[in-house]
Amino acid sequence: MIGREIVFRGRVESTQDEVRGAGATGAAEGFAVVADSQSSGRGRKGNRWHSPPGTGLYVSFLLRPPAHAVTLLSLALGLSTSQAVESVCGIETELKWPNDLIIGGKKAAGIIAESQVQDERVLYVVAGIGINVSEPAGGWPREVADIATALPEGTSREALLAELFNAAEINYDHLRRGAGSRVLDEYRRRCPYRRGAPVIVGGWQAGAEEEAVAIEVAEDGGLLVERKGGIRETLYGHEVRMQVRHAW
Ligand code: BTN
Repeated sequence: MIGREIVFRGRVESTQDEVRGAGATGAAEGFAVVADSQSSGRGRKGNRWHSPPGTGLYVSFLLRPPAHAVTLLSLALGLSTSQAVESVCGIETELKWPNDLIIGGKKAAGIIAESQVQDERVLYVVAGIGINVSEPAGGWPREVADIATALPEGTSREALLAELFNAAEINYDHLRRGAGSRVLDEYRRRCPYRRGAPVIVGGWQAGAEEEAVAIEVAEDGGLLVERKGGIRETLYGHEVRMQVRHAW
């Protein structure tokens, strides 16, 4: 059960490291660490996750998924975050593929899933979720000032954490039971990269960007796009953003 054991900490370097350490020494699936602040919060692609005290929900938890549940895990975590925020705050959210939580065109939460692999087998996954519950007292750091947003004023971190664990448990259970389509359907409803949406794709080579058209989020969680000349390709590690409408 996700959150079966929760350790609450004041300040840590990164909740990811705390849970990874526990995973290596045999902690049970569901073990979670929540911190009020992080000195070295980690984002995807080597980015920093600004984690000042009192303003965010910073949580990592341990999963030991069977091989068939790994493929859609990252999307399932994004979906769970979206469902938790929607249920606690009563607002609609979007998911920018693969799993940034978007409110009003700006990023309100991010997810990282770090796997420990041995002989091509996933031993465990450390799922990390960072939610901007309120705007930091000193404002957003300059590098994210134009793209970051927070949840509606007065949102309770405790309520959010409880809903997040509930939603993650349900979605993870779908994956374990081979019912990934239930996760995918709900995910696709929230993802604006629907058939025909013009997108800009980066990450082909250093610095290169290219216009493309989204086709769909594929069964394996990749993003199927049509590139210039009609070539279809499924993206995995690429950076994608809408050509219009959103700041991101
Ligand atoms: C992203 O780049 O969008 C992912 C951000 C993930 C941040 C969370 S906060 C809790 C956990 N601990 C970390 O160091 N990172 C994740």
